[in-house]
This record gives sequence, structure tokens and C-alpha cells, in this order.
Amino acid sequence: MNELFKPGPSGTNQALDAYWMPFTANRQFKANPRMLVGARGMHYTSDDGRTILDGTAGLWCCNAGHGHAEIRDAVARQLEEMDYAPSFNMGHPIAFEFAERLREIAPDGFNHVFYTGSGSESVDTALKMALAYHRAKGDASRTRLIGRERGYHGVGFGGISVGGIVNNRRHFGTMLGGVDHISHTHNLAANAFSKGQPETGAELADDLERVVALHGAETIAAVIVEPVAGSTGVLLPPKGYLERLRAICDKHGILLIFDEVITGFGRLGTPFASNYFGVKPDIFTTAKGLTNGVIPMGAVFVQDHVHDAFMNAPENTIELFHGYTYSGHPVACAAGIATLDIYARHGLLTRGAELAPTWEDKVHSLRDAPYVKDIRNIGIIAGIELDSRDGAIGARAYEVFVKCFEAGLLIRVTGDIIALSPPLILEPSHIEEMVETLRTVLKSVD
Ligand SMILES: Cc1ncc(COP(=O)(O)O)c(C=O)c1O
Repeated sequence: MNELFKPGPSGTNQALDAYWMPFTANRQFKANPRMLVGARGMHYTSDDGRTILDGTAGLWCCNAGHGHAEIRDAVARQLEEMDYAPSFNMGHPIAFEFAERLREIAPDGFNHVFYTGSGSESVDTALKMALAYHRAKGDASRTRLIGRERGYHGVGFGGISVGGIVNNRRHFGTMLGGVDHISHTHNLAANAFSKGQPETGAELADDLERVVALHGAETIAAVIVEPVAGSTGVLLPPKGYLERLRAICDKHGILLIFDEVITGFGRLGTPFASNYFGVKPDIFTTAKGLTNGVIPMGAVFVQDHVHDAFMNAPENTIELFHGYTYSGHPVACAAGIATLDIYARHGLLTRGAELAPTWEDKVHSLRDAPYVKDIRNIGIIAGIELDSRDGAIGARAYEVFVKCFEAGLLIRVTGDIIALSPPLILEPSHIEEMVETLRTVLKSVD
């Protein structure tokens, strides 16, 4: 039994009581905890000494794998030199250095970076920027924000308002006003077992025209989408979809925001999803891979034309009344710079492109495994959708998750969809191991 287990009344585990865990069935977990205590390279170690292959890069964030001494040393050096410094009307060199480094790898035109502490903060920052941008241009009627069904944009009130996952919304009142949603792009009937971007569905972008016709373009500030939706179960943009969305935004003067919190930093085999798809948003959000998940941090990348619209007021004006105590945290910047060095040295921002064909072949070899009703992939991401048990959505995938963990593989599940997004340092042998573990486990569940 886990050494942290201290039985309390009615079998609860008192030693685990104090920590209210996020996005977790706390009582279920605490009755049978799964604890990770170490991490190196592609693997975690569990508290009972087992090696667990990381099929999810933590939570889509440890793109360079685990335990890099270089990041540890950079963090330690920064802690020694200066642990914290404020960023409001004060600066510290490492925050400027990191922004410069980020600008170098960003798509052309994204010359400005605003720091946050997480993906959720990046999303709220981007939404606020979009609203303030139109106001700065004298277009204060553009107050509406448009998201997409099945979108995930973190858990701030902005993010859940534009997000489209019912359980993240239904418990939290009315959220932001003035928000609408376009339709999601998932179409199993037409696109099941697509390899890469599905052929069918570019026209779903036209749903934005419906929203424009309903509200009037002059009331809409921005549309936010994940270029590839991750948390809702790996939904890919159909061919031509993002291009069409961009064109409709341009036609109506609406800003396009890409939420690249999971697609940023090499996940698709390109530095960012906008490189992969050849479609540029006006603003894009990042977090996670920004520091390899080591220190919490996010960053919002902004095109010149958006940034510059704020720079017309008198010089002593604060251009954006927004920011966080931890914006540009020096220790996070140190982790981020060391992370970019590792990405560059090992070519990790593009390595996914080399591995993607093997990844695709192997993952699609699960097509005949029990309960599999769809497999989709792009870059080093895969979604495997299972048939649900009658009246128990998510139960089968949860069992697969638990059994995979017991068999030495960490996967993520959402509903009955398995999502895989391993560190980008993976080798073909790891792909083989993931797929074969999943195959065995799928045969063992009912
Ligand atoms: C697309 C997207 N946006 C935002 C977030 C929220 O990031 P965080 O959990 O760091 O707040 C996530 C997290 O998974 C995400 O996938």
C-alpha cells in the first residue's frame, strides 16, 4: 500500500485530504492514489519504484523531456543572483533577453511578447488585448468575443466563456457577457481515421459569417480558436479551414487569436502551429513548452500592428492596464532561456516533423484494436476515440488510463478519447512501446 495512505473514517485517506486536487475526482483518487516521485528523459518514476513512459509530456508541457541539468542550473543561478523583481515600471535584463529570444523563433511580424503565469492567463491577456486594441483604435463598439464549441482555453472567466466544454462552463454562472461560439470541426461520419488534417469541413469556418450576420461585424472584437484542439480530445482543423477563418476575420476587421498553449514549441514539427498551417493570427497565446513546464509561465505573442495601435497615446500613458505580479518572473525567464537553448541544440522545434510519419503509421496500427472508433494524428499528437459504455461516458477510457499506468505508460483521457503527446525527444522504440501497451490494455478492458 502507498506509504502516504493513512486510513481515515469510511476508508478515506487522511494524509491526502488537505490538497484539493485540480480536475480530479478527489475521493476516487485518494482511495487509490497514483504518485509520481521522479522524472528523467522520457520517463517518470512512481512511488513504488516503477518506470512510467511519459506519453503526455506531463500535461503537454515537457517537450524536451525531463530532468535537464541545464535548466536546473540556470534556475539555480538565477535564484542565487536575484530571486524576484517587480515588472511594473521596473525591469530586469533577463526578461528582455528572453523576449528577444522568443521573437527570434516566432513567425515574422510577431515582435512583441507579454508575459503571464500560465495558459489561462495568456488567454485572458489575449482577449483583453483584443478588446483594448479596438478601443485604442477608436472602435469601442467591438466588444464581442467569439470562441468555438469544444474549445479549451483554460479556466479563467475569459477562457471558460469563450471555451466550449460544457462541464467547464455549466457550474460557473453566466460568465462573460457578449460571447458567442462557432461550431466545432469534429465530424466522425466524414473524417474517421483521417491521417493528418481531415479533407472535409473547410466550410465550417463559414459559421463565423452566421455569427457576424447575427451580431454585426462592428460589434465583434476577436475570434479565438486552438489551431489543433487538444483538451477536448484532439480535434484537427480540416484542410482549408484556418485559411478561411483568417479570410473571414480580415473581411470583417475581426482579430484572430490562436491559442497555441499546446501547439507551441514544436508539437506539430514546426515551432508554432501558424508555421505548420501557414496561417497567421494577429495574437497567439503560449505557456507550457515555453519553459519546458519546469517553472510556470506563459507568453502572448503580438503582431506589430496590434502592439503599435497601443503606442499612440502620450508617452507617460500606461498603454495596457494589465499584468501580473509574476509577469516576466526572472526565474521563469532563466528556465525559458535554457529551454530554448535545449530546443535549438537538439532541433526539437522541428524534430516532430521527422518522427511524424512513424508516429502516424504506428498509432494508426491500433485501428483494429477493440473499441477504437477513430484515430487522428498530427505532428506528435494522437487522439484515439473509443466507443463509450452504455450510460457511462468516459468509464472505459478511464479504465484504460489506470491500466496503462499500471503497465508503465502515462496517457491522458478526456471522455472516451485517449490523447497522446509525448516529449519530442522520443525515439521510435518509445512509440512502439506506447502503441503495444495500449493494444494490450485495450484487449483487457470490457
Ligand atoms: C489550448 C489551451 N489553452 C489554455 C490552457 C490553459 O493553460 P493552463 O492550465 O496553464 O492555465 C490549456 C491547458 O491545457 C490549453 O490546452
